[in-house]
Amino acid sequence: MYDFYFGSQEEIGKDPRKFLLTVKRMMPRWCNGIPDSEFLALYDVIAAMELPPKPVFIETGSGASTIVLSYFAVKHGGELYTWDVSGSKLFYLRGVINDTLMRHFDDRNLSVHWKHIAFDSNSEFAGIRVLKELDRKVSACFFDSEHTLNVLMSEVKSVCDVLADTAVVAIDDANYSYINCNTAYINMVRTKLGLPAIQEPPGNIGRPFWAEVEEYLKTKFALVEHLDDSYKKNYQSDIFWSYYRSDREAMASLAMEKTEDLEHRFDAWRVCRS
Ligand SMILES: C[S@@+](CC[C@H](N)C(=O)[O-])C[C@H]1O[C@@H](n2cnc3c(N)ncnc32)[C@H](O)[C@@H]1O
Repeated sequence: MYDFYFGSQEEIGKDPRKFLLTVKRMMPRWCNGIPDSEFLALYDVIAAMELPPKPVFIETGSGASTIVLSYFAVKHGGELYTWDVSGSKLFYLRGVINDTLMRHFDDRNLSVHWKHIAFDSNSEFAGIRVLKELDRKVSACFFDSEHTLNVLMSEVKSVCDVLADTAVVAIDDANYSYINCNTAYINMVRTKLGLPAIQEPPGNIGRPFWAEVEEYLKTKFALVEHLDDSYKKNYQSDIFWSYYRSDREAMASLAMEKTEDLEHRFDAWRVCRS
């Protein structure tokens, strides 16, 4: 299905960022939700980590980010746990990863390295909390699901219990500030149904996610370092914006594109318990 030639194993090994970006750029938009600069920033923060043997990664919200995280899981003989309520995205990604990363690593068993859970990330019995039952310690996590503070903080709180002594916490759309209801997304759904847009519910706008998450992490870890990620240096020249301009203009008209505080669209922290 994804039958392209990406270069020899040696060539790919010399420049994995280029390989991963090529895979990303050939993915359809519905499965390709983050800009290239954020995709590479996620790669960069994990590549800079000292990872334990068989590291464990988690993400909520599958897509391009799954390519980066599964790459590190397969490369280091570890695991990626992905939660997404959309099973069709997960199954599509399984085909892409099998035809790209797994060929490169000459590994036939993606199911050993990638656990995809088509369920709510915050479910008490099948969400992130299962990692405690599974006795896993998470080295890095990326949150990109519903884009409301309530869902995000519940995800962050669940993962804090199972983070390794040193870990990276990263979030997408960290400049959003919806508390309970992602009004922009809801209005996109309503517009498609021919319904009028709703007004912002009272008390639904709070502080940006990055400020809330950072404050919470500081209550849980001895050291919390906000990482100087490459997204902030590269996002303005990212070709993703112009390539998908027509779709993004329509999204912006429904307030789904947050143009303020764009350098906080991606944020990542290194946390240490001691
Ligand atoms: C913006 S997309 C993720 C984009 C992806 N990270 C990428 O790099 O392309 C958000 C995804 O989160 C999923 N989602 C939303 N709320 C969720 C929840 N509570 N649990 C699991 N998945 C959720 C949606 O089905 C959707 O596929």
